Amino acid sequence: MTTSIEQRFFELHPKSAELHDSARSLFPNGVTHDARRQDPFQLYYTHAEGAAKYDVDGNRILDYFPGHGALILGHSRPEVVQAVQEQMGMGTHFSGSTELEIEWGGWVRELIPSAEKVRFHSSGTEADMMAIRMARAFTGKSKVIKFEDHFHGWSDYLVAGSEGIGGIPKETLSTMIVLPPNDIETFERTLRENDDIAAVILEPTGAHMGLEPILPEFLSQLREVTERYGVVLIFDEVVTGFRTSRGGAQEYFGIRPDLTTLAKILGGGLPGGAVAGRAEIVNMIEGRQGDAEFNRNSRIAHNGTFNANPISAAAGVAALKIVANEPINDTANARAAQLKDGLNDLLGRLEIPGCATGITSLMFLHLGIDYEGDTDYCILTPEQQAVSMEPERLRQLSLSLLNHGVQSGNRFILTAAHTEDDIAHTIDAYERALTEIRALGLV
Ligand SMILES: Cc1ncc(COP(=O)(O)O)c(C=O)c1O
Repeated sequence: MTTSIEQRFFELHPKSAELHDSARSLFPNGVTHDARRQDPFQLYYTHAEGAAKYDVDGNRILDYFPGHGALILGHSRPEVVQAVQEQMGMGTHFSGSTELEIEWGGWVRELIPSAEKVRFHSSGTEADMMAIRMARAFTGKSKVIKFEDHFHGWSDYLVAGSEGIGGIPKETLSTMIVLPPNDIETFERTLRENDDIAAVILEPTGAHMGLEPILPEFLSQLREVTERYGVVLIFDEVVTGFRTSRGGAQEYFGIRPDLTTLAKILGGGLPGGAVAGRAEIVNMIEGRQGDAEFNRNSRIAHNGTFNANPISAAAGVAALKIVANEPINDTANARAAQLKDGLNDLLGRLEIPGCATGITSLMFLHLGIDYEGDTDYCILTPEQQAVSMEPERLRQLSLSLLNHGVQSGNRFILTAAHTEDDIAHTIDAYERALTEIRALGLV
């Protein structure tokens, strides 16, 4: 049965519905990224500016998933647009080096505390693949530890432990160890019992961009234990880099990983990725003169047509310069705090169980549970998590919010372009959406 929310969704988005119908015969599920799947259909966008984007039906939608987290400056920031336009006119690819790539790498080293050397890629998936390969080559060991639900792109190794592992050889997955987060005893026992572990990789603020937080003390414990066992500590800062602070989660928590992977904000809204970190590990890409054995069996070969391409480099330099020189992080954080307080207040007023949580500019909403704990680092039991992620409630909530001009659900990625008025509008939209899903008996 169609709900009143779905009915309204169809009325407001007829052109998107039509486009989705044609896309279904062209793309699996009609989409080009798993996270863009939406039932009954996803929206199609034409343009965006600041904190908002516009769909083909002319609706203005406040964006809390801006560029999947890439756009901390908001959409179409003029300096970035200009840098890209100028570079387009000068050439998009020289099959050679540019001064721009040195400037881009320089900003990475300037901002990310542990970055001694840098290698560019075209995505976070590639950067994560390279980071574990560097760790394996450097240590001569083969196994890699990751944590339950932590996301590191879609490469064969790093999807271990998640759904959708069709096509990956068991032998590949058998080199991965998936552990529960925030449990240093299990982690250390695993290292004690297995002397073939090259690295541990994690999202330093927790799974799903911090929805299931890592506790700060676990990060220091990991640093101490990995140092003792000679295991490479990799922070996947694809989301948190230049966001959790200018220097990423590592600067925010004061922990120095061995390797850091970056993407999203790094590319200023264009494709880009990088591994940065200890020079001796990143240098596993560098050949050694006269050492044929090393060059054949230990060195890492690394190509990639669009590595550090001039257009991404131009956008990345323009964006990182702004992050370095303006209070971008502070502004995004302040808007997130306003939203978190406003939503917690709203839940109290509507007497709906739930809480808004999170740190810096990444915020989360957990509905349907009584939670009185810390709203920075909210660790739920598996049962509470299952309740708060109830799919039909989340689906109807997301559709209702889109009807009211807001794209979010239970996760919010803030930008410096969100204004105080945008946040007030968002809280109003939530009031209406929560009232509507309550009428359906979903909260
Ligand atoms: C923490 C994390 N690592 C890696 C990736 C993969 O990055 P990309 O989509 O650029 O391949 C993502 C993407 O969302 C991510 O959130």
